[in-house]
Amino acid sequence: MSLSLDETQPDPEALLRWYVELGADEAIGDEPVDWFAAATAAASVPIPAQSPASAAPASVTPPQQMPKPAAEAAPRRAPAAAEPPSDSAARALASAAQTLDELRAALEALEGFPLKVTATNLVFGEGVEQPDVMFIGEAPGADEDRQGRPFVGASGRLLDRMMQSIGLDREKNAYITNILPWRPPGNREPTPAEIATCLPFIRRHIELVRPRVLVPVGGTSAKTLLDQRQGIMRLRGRQFEYAGPGLDGPIPAIPLFHPAFLLRSSGQKALAWRDLLAIKQIIQ
Ligand code: URA
Repeated sequence: MSLSLDETQPDPEALLRWYVELGADEAIGDEPVDWFAAATAAASVPIPAQSPASAAPASVTPPQQMPKPAAEAAPRRAPAAAEPPSDSAARALASAAQTLDELRAALEALEGFPLKVTATNLVFGEGVEQPDVMFIGEAPGADEDRQGRPFVGASGRLLDRMMQSIGLDREKNAYITNILPWRPPGNREPTPAEIATCLPFIRRHIELVRPRVLVPVGGTSAKTLLDQRQGIMRLRGRQFEYAGPGLDGPIPAIPLFHPAFLLRSSGQKALAWRDLLAIKQIIQ
């Protein structure tokens, strides 16, 4: 049986979708590179100098192997990755920042953090200083990564509406950021090591923003900031206290369902509404 061309060629759209689902959703070079290509020793056989035809000896020279072009001869290697920052180095960098601009600069200068390589933009945070409420999500998604702004995609639009329902606005009296300021490829969950590196920065971020109320958005944020093991189902509906060395005193913290979860499970919106009212009660 013979196959038509369509059956032998992969559908490019399906192939792209498959790559995106695997997390390969950014082009990081114009040419594909096979990092695993085996080293091929270049045969450096000199090509005999061509004699003028008239003086050519009547012997037959066996075919010579052409030396490979330099780029092919030596296998290309991935650039040596800088050492990932140690937790103590991250803590020192973060605590040295005295302003939000300095904190942003410290993140921009951080070396060896793998997510920086795959992300398009640093998503630092936005809003007003000393806000009524500081919302902290997990990590930027694709829209946030493209724009360099937190919560600007579908879940961000829902978060804006949730905030508006209790009189909050990122331009007037709220601040929004994430535990991780760079997008994990394919929106995968951040690893414990990635969270540990970013933790000193988000803690310093809170100290510099100085909110009246802290709202961890979603399970990862709530567990990380409140140092809890339980999931968001058990953490929401409760009030915690968040303390930090650079704060005047503990601040109330109210975990909230992540809007991405609410978009999938609208039946949980009633519980989220209760939590929003609890936040409103504290700030009034
Ligand atoms: N989800 C998050 O946790 N943060 C964002 O900024 C966007 C989506």
